[in-house]
Amino acid sequence: MSEAINILAFETSCDETSVAVLENGKVLSNIILSQEYHLNFGGVVPEIASREHLRKIAELTEEALEKAGKKITEINLVAATSEPGLIGAILIGLNFAKSTAATLNVPFVNVNHIQAHLYSSFLNERKPNFPFIGLIVSGGHTLIVLVEDFFKHKILGTTADDAAGEAFDKVAKMMGLGYPGGPIIDRRAKEGDKDFHKFPISRLKDSKYNFSFSGIKTSVLYYLRNNNFEQNKSDKLINDICASFQHAIIKTLYDKVMLAAKEYGVRDITISGGVSANSSLKETFSALNGKGYNIFIPDFIYTTDNAGMIGITAYYKYTTEKNKEFLDKESLSTHARPRLDYENF
Ligand code: KG4
Ligand code: ZN
Repeated sequence: MSEAINILAFETSCDETSVAVLENGKVLSNIILSQEYHLNFGGVVPEIASREHLRKIAELTEEALEKAGKKITEINLVAATSEPGLIGAILIGLNFAKSTAATLNVPFVNVNHIQAHLYSSFLNERKPNFPFIGLIVSGGHTLIVLVEDFFKHKILGTTADDAAGEAFDKVAKMMGLGYPGGPIIDRRAKEGDKDFHKFPISRLKDSKYNFSFSGIKTSVLYYLRNNNFEQNKSDKLINDICASFQHAIIKTLYDKVMLAAKEYGVRDITISGGVSANSSLKETFSALNGKGYNIFIPDFIYTTDNAGMIGITAYYKYTTEKNKEFLDKESLSTHARPRLDYENF
């Protein structure tokens, strides 16, 4: 039997410091530290994120190895997020990972964070079949992708302005609900009436698959102003606004994904990224299971940023024959540089 592939993976692109250990594509440990310090500022402060990653990364690595029951010397592949994200934050994880790989004299694989969200669905026992439509909905990204094979993607649509998660965060902030807004709105929406108010979602003329979420954010702002929200606010009003806003976002995501699935004749659909933790979004899409479609949503722990998804993406990158060339080019023998754009998606 050939040697097991033991991966040590790092994710530090934003405000989660995460380290995972995988054996042959199975997660043995996935330690995630959400940096709470940012809560004082209502959003992520890049410099603080970098410093917190630096402060914690070594001890989280030890913790991940210990939980996995692996010695560092058993690791034969190291991976880290290299793009996109906060550049200082990425550099901490990337350099820590590359030094570890160099010290162990094992290959290093750099991973695109958006690809990692996409392939997080492969962490489940039940895996999607190619081709599939991937919806990636996070705090920084909203994409609909046609995935023909591993690392063979066609971006069908993306957002012209705010990402879906960003819209959740901004709307929650407007109502003084705290950060991150997604989980709070999700919880409150359960108690609210989705038909309370119709918040419009802008339609873009240029592409049927592109999104725009800044209009709905503005329409919530005007609704709050025009209805004297500060004077009239009550739990019921907040819950109803949350439910109506959330419903509008989910309907747009759903309609566009289904349009793509029909146009491309695809039955398997993956939903991933932080917003895929949303309970109503999960319910809406999961209802399609057994009705001609197969829906794949990662387990809760793999929806928001985590190193498990970096590890699984590195695993497929490493084991997929056609990526060998990429590995040679990008491995430590040359250098893996953090990129600022999406050229590598
Ligand atoms: O994937 P992620 O951890 O980070 C990025 O790569 O951006 O996503 C974070 C985003 C935040 O905007 C957060 O509000 C949103 O995911 N989110 C949710 C839920 N949980 C997290 N949005 C809606 N419903 C949720 N339950
Ligand atoms: Zn993410």
